[in-house]
Amino acid sequence: MASAVDSAIQKLATVQLNELSTSSSPNLQKNLSILSPEQIELGKMLLETGQVHLFENWPDPGVDDDDKKALLAQVDLLNSSYPGGLASYIKTARELLADSKAGRNPFDGFTPSVPSGEVLTCGDDNFIQYEESGVKQIQNAAFVLVAGGLGERLGYKGIKVALPMETTTGTCFLQHYIESILSLSKASYKHAQGECQRDVPLVIMTSDDTHGHTLQLLESNSYFGMKPTQVKLLKQEKVACLADNDARLALDPNNKYKIQTKPHGHGDVHALLYSSGLLKEWKDAGLRWVLFFQDTNGLLFKAIPAALGVSVTKEYHVNSLAVPRKAKEAIGGITKLTHTDGREMVINVEYNQLDPLLRATGHPDGDVNCETGFSPYPGNINQLILELGPYIDELSKTGGAIKEFINPKYKDSTKTEFKSSTRLECMMQDYPKTLPPSARVGFTVTEIWLAYAPVKNNPEDAAKVPKGNPYHSATSGETAIYRANSMILRKAGVKVDDPVTQVFNGQEVEVWSRVVWKPKWAVTFSDVKSKVKGNNSVSQKSTLVIKGHNVVIEDLKLDGALIVDSVDEAEVKVGGGSVCNNGWTIESVDKDCVELPEEVRIRGFKINKKEQLEEFYGESGNFCLKP
Ligand code: UTP
Repeated sequence: MASAVDSAIQKLATVQLNELSTSSSPNLQKNLSILSPEQIELGKMLLETGQVHLFENWPDPGVDDDDKKALLAQVDLLNSSYPGGLASYIKTARELLADSKAGRNPFDGFTPSVPSGEVLTCGDDNFIQYEESGVKQIQNAAFVLVAGGLGERLGYKGIKVALPMETTTGTCFLQHYIESILSLSKASYKHAQGECQRDVPLVIMTSDDTHGHTLQLLESNSYFGMKPTQVKLLKQEKVACLADNDARLALDPNNKYKIQTKPHGHGDVHALLYSSGLLKEWKDAGLRWVLFFQDTNGLLFKAIPAALGVSVTKEYHVNSLAVPRKAKEAIGGITKLTHTDGREMVINVEYNQLDPLLRATGHPDGDVNCETGFSPYPGNINQLILELGPYIDELSKTGGAIKEFINPKYKDSTKTEFKSSTRLECMMQDYPKTLPPSARVGFTVTEIWLAYAPVKNNPEDAAKVPKGNPYHSATSGETAIYRANSMILRKAGVKVDDPVTQVFNGQEVEVWSRVVWKPKWAVTFSDVKSKVKGNNSVSQKSTLVIKGHNVVIEDLKLDGALIVDSVDEAEVKVGGGSVCNNGWTIESVDKDCVELPEEVRIRGFKINKKEQLEEFYGESGNFCLKP
């Protein structure tokens, strides 16, 4: 019976297809008998959208039938994973390709101005107050890590979240993120006074390039202490590549039954969250905030509590984390754009677009520093805090589709041919582009040393970065952790020696004392301040690792390596004397030395663990570690 119905549908579809274009694809027509009604519908859609070339080399039925079906199965996936389907993808691509060919400026008609936001200084009263209100809200937050990127610039063979954030303890990024979320939610629960403790959700957006390894990393490490049900992986699909200005889909040069695909960008996260139903689930559970972050920024969680506090206090629907930006520095600037037709948005404007935009709108000097010595447009670091209610309302309208862009590399100035196929892309931070003017969109600026040290560049490219600009390498990513922790200790009253300057992998970096603590020791500046007492000092050659929850440092003079660990029930006081030993030294390695693991080579140094004082307190009770 079912097959009779199917064959009736198939006949009908054949008639429709014939009506549509008898001559446009004889190859598809003669193969209709091997296709399902759904596949015929997809074929029709492809013909309607100018993709007849896809069937150009199809042989008669009986030859390569499985491959033909596989192509339509791929079309089905491309169609269903894109909001609005493949027809909408092709339509948008045509429009954007025409704009690109005509050299149209996406900011035509817009005037830039400086938006309003909050500028924080780590450790001052304002910062501490924001941290406190932020921590209270962690119970009502969900975290979203976008980790589907290829990491081509870094060129690391594994996934980026598996890289050690620092090599003193070897903690990888994902472990640090998860432990930070767990510790923050514990701190939040303390504030919640009797409310039931919620498992703060973590979503990780993966892609075919990262999914398997991410899952394996989680599973082989018992989810780093999170409940497996707390973590959801959402895999983004790639999008179809385009061969020319007519948005004809590009076939794989080695397989005429396969459409070439490439990543669509981290903007996919919005559509995935929406279509997964998670946003609604979170709203029904009473959550209020969604925090987005990236794969290799080991500092971010130092700024999260205060930035969330800003969102809460200022009732921001969208809060972008930002850092002071030097004029012309190669990061986007957060900018308010007002159109002549009245439209307004607060949005990231890429640095290469900001300068011409300013010049074209009455600022003849373009992108320049103001009296603070920085550009008035804060530098976007792409970590967003969205209020869940307005976020769902907006996505209900858009389905999560984010304004896309296209970046074809043309063969010559006629702009008629591409060097290689291109595709539409979208960015997470372009979410506010469709918001109404009533939306409350702001930013939170914190010091760079506190909040931003991503690992994106390989050693060779990092070494070529012009002096004064950030390297964004594994070398700078790790040394930034020691600098931030040392600076925070200083602000909390510890005497920490000045750093020395050293060169690793051709990059000049400050080497501070190697100070590392687990999130369970401190997740806010107030935590640190309450756990360092009296007169403490740490020399530049020292390493200080604090792993236990209730560890207090009091009157300690450290000139060597000290590692303190304890169970949560133990209370440990460390100090009242000097720890002096040969310590752990930081030693240069050759990035081309193949005997060394890649994780070490890409930073250009290794930790030589010569001598240390190391204590672990495994029982409940009060303890004193008096050197
Ligand atoms: P990056 O700008 O670091 O890009 O992405 P990338 O693709 O990882 O690295 P390159 O450009 O190839 O060198 C910023 C964040 O967005 C995620 C990355 O994993 C990173 O956390 N991302 C990027 C996705 O989740 N999906 C994408 O399609 C692209």
